[in-house]
Amino acid sequence: MHDPVAFRSLHRARFHAEPAVFAAPGRVNLIGEHTDYAEGFVMPAAIDFATLAGVSPRTDGKIAIYSENYGEERSFEAAALPAQANHHWSDYPIGVVKVLAGEGHRIPGFSLSLWSDVPLSAGLSSSAALVVSTALAVESLTGASYPGPVVARLCQRAENEFVGANCGIMDQFVSANGAQDHALLLDCRDLSFRLAPIPPHVALVIANTMVKHSVAGGGYKSRRAEVEAACAVIARHRPGVKFLRDATLDDLDKWGREMEPKSLMRARHIISENLRTVAASEALLRGDLEELGRLMAEAHASYSRDFEASCVEADAMVELAQDLPGLIGARLTGGGFGGCTVNLVEQAQAAAFSEALGARYTAQFGMVPQIYICHASGGAHRLD
Ligand code: GLA
Repeated sequence: MHDPVAFRSLHRARFHAEPAVFAAPGRVNLIGEHTDYAEGFVMPAAIDFATLAGVSPRTDGKIAIYSENYGEERSFEAAALPAQANHHWSDYPIGVVKVLAGEGHRIPGFSLSLWSDVPLSAGLSSSAALVVSTALAVESLTGASYPGPVVARLCQRAENEFVGANCGIMDQFVSANGAQDHALLLDCRDLSFRLAPIPPHVALVIANTMVKHSVAGGGYKSRRAEVEAACAVIARHRPGVKFLRDATLDDLDKWGREMEPKSLMRARHIISENLRTVAASEALLRGDLEELGRLMAEAHASYSRDFEASCVEADAMVELAQDLPGLIGARLTGGGFGGCTVNLVEQAQAAAFSEALGARYTAQFGMVPQIYICHASGGAHRLD
């Protein structure tokens, strides 16, 4: 989908230097939603949409960053980076530079070009693709070489500490560590992970409701607060419970009445979602796609009913897919409140499925959804 040759010449024309080019993918989450910051389990896959970051050193001490998507260039002094975010796309790359500087790296002046085909505000982690590709690019200038899980942690910190997005680790992790044709079951407590092959006859059909999603939005923050409040109630009785990862449905039976009703609902989603995510990875590993599809349906119901993170359009997009030939499982993916559904679909039926789903959605909402037939791709890397 991307054209590194054209990208290189774009950088050369603007900055008069040959760039080193890095690519980092977006992601789709198959199951495990809002469980990452509860130190639970997630099972995303990197997808074949990516951000390219081209970097070349400069001698004037400046950091010039050009975004082809926004058609805009910003310039900073490497020795005097902004103290605060500006609510601008450049916050993401600058956040990465600041985190790397905080790790003790001397950051030289450089020119950075950015280009992306990860759909924006669609819940497909365009921001993770941006920070991870930037991190690899800037790292290459400093001589550092961090392993993928460390890159993910540094990038999460850039988003948490500088950009001000209170996200978990899932998106940056899979962007940095994804593997072609595999989903990645991640334990967000210790960042250990296991790869599960997605059979070649299965496509990831991603259907964009065209309702904009944002992690910076109020819904994500308030859900996270409710999850943490539920955990605090359980921890009063069981001090070993630091995150909902440590809690059980039994804890909710015992102490749920001490929680705000909404917190109880959020906790029920998180605790059951952790169980479903591990079960889903086992189903995928043994090739039991029917069970995987069933778990995805349960996960969607829980996300919509208990977590209340869906919307009319996403519920409809899942519903409209149900009786289409080739469907294995469908659910809303990502942070919620809009964005995309993920549909596991028999590859041979994927084109007809996409067309029929799009037509049904348009008939219901008068909007043409973007539908992408994707495959699990590899994680971030340098392009030679
Ligand atoms: C966003 C966040 C992730 C995760 C998901 C919900 O994508 O960036 O950390 O919390 O939402 O599963």
